[in-house]
Amino acid sequence: MLTAYDFPTAKILDEAGVDVLLVGDTVGMVVQGHSTTLPVTMDQMIYHSEMVGRAAQRAMVVVDLPFPDGQLDILHSVKCGARVLKETQCHAVKLEGGAEQAERIEAMVRAGIPVMAHIGLGPQSVHVLGGYRLQRDIDRLVADAKAAEAAGAFVVLIECVPSQAAAAVTEAISVPTIGIGAGPDVSGQVLVTHDIVGLTSGYTPKFTRSFGDVGLVMREAAQSYCQEVKAGTFPSDAESFE
Ligand code: KIV
Ligand code: NA
Repeated sequence: MLTAYDFPTAKILDEAGVDVLLVGDTVGMVVQGHSTTLPVTMDQMIYHSEMVGRAAQRAMVVVDLPFPDGQLDILHSVKCGARVLKETQCHAVKLEGGAEQAERIEAMVRAGIPVMAHIGLGPQSVHVLGGYRLQRDIDRLVADAKAAEAAGAFVVLIECVPSQAAAAVTEAISVPTIGIGAGPDVSGQVLVTHDIVGLTSGYTPKFTRSFGDVGLVMREAAQSYCQEVKAGTFPSDAESFE
């Protein structure tokens, strides 16, 4: 699973064989330039989800409910989830939280909205957690995962926990787990696309890896364009109309 926020990127990832595309509220950080995911709105999530949903031919597409749409009253969250299914071609939503979200997950699934739970580090709670910190409480993680599964979540995503804790969670439930900063002993992995292709600058978390440098390719293409325009070699006759 990888994140996608726009049509061309989603098309490339879909064609590359990524099984699940996540329209994550990390769009607020890696696209909008904010330092947290908190400013992202439901309307913005719908806007990006429309583009990704149109591009995906084979991948499942999951959409984050942003803050505080996944925390307000349950009927509000059900309506937001329904907007995702009705206004975009995406398939499911993701909700941060475990046991405290069980009632909400249940209501959404009952309404026909598939829910991926997201436990461990929940970036929407960064100010309660006191930073983007490793979540070590195994008993709580297992209890959260079990509550989410019992409520009807089809996958439990686990963020920023020790590998042993993610393994214990994966062992404790029968739906798949997807890890980010959660080690190898999970059913699947997710990363933020911009982080792995060189499109984020500055700090990147320990758990990500550079798999390519699209940023460098773009920088070089832009520099070549500027040089050719200044040198008068762009546009050529072939690139002009008579
Ligand atoms: O918003 C997002 O991209 C996420 C992933 C980091 C799991 O929630
Ligand atoms: Na997110």
